[in-house]
Amino acid sequence: MSIQKILLKFEPKPENLLGVLKEIQKENGYIGKKECEGAAGYFSLPLARVYSTASFFDQMKTKKESKKIIKICSGGPCLGEKSMEVARQIEMLLKIELENDARAKYKLELMSCAGLCDRGPIVMIDNQIFEKVKPETVDDILANYL
Ligand code: FES
Repeated sequence: MSIQKILLKFEPKPENLLGVLKEIQKENGYIGKKECEGAAGYFSLPLARVYSTASFFDQMKTKKESKKIIKICSGGPCLGEKSMEVARQIEMLLKIELENDARAKYKLELMSCAGLCDRGPIVMIDNQIFEKVKPETVDDILANYL
C-alpha cells in the first residue's frame, strides 16, 4: 500500500501521526525518509518531529532491514499437497507469522502458482526453488539456506 493510501485513512490531525507511522511500519517493515516527508507534509509538521517520533519507538525502524523472503505456493495443487502445513511448520521453526512479521529477520509470504504444480508443495527462498517440501523436511531446507 502506498504512503498516500495510508495517509488518506487518517484525518490530517497531528494526533494521528503515530497511527500513520505504525501503519507504514506494518506495511513496509520500516519508515523511510520518503514516508517521513510524506507524513510531515500531510500533517503540516516539521520533518524532524516526524522522524524523531518514528525513531523513538523500538517497534519502528527508519531503515530497511535486509531479510530473507520465504514464499510458499498457495495454488490449488500445492494446497492439495498440504502447503499450509509446511507454512505452519516454518512459522513454528522461525517464530514468525505468515504475511505478518514486518520486523522479523524473515518474512513468510504466500505466492501464486509457480508453474511447478506436479512438484509441489513449492517453497521459494529468495530465488531458490524447493520442490515437494514436506513439514518434516522443511527444517533441513531452512538450516541450509537461511
Ligand atoms: S499450485 Fe503450486 S506450483 Fe502450481
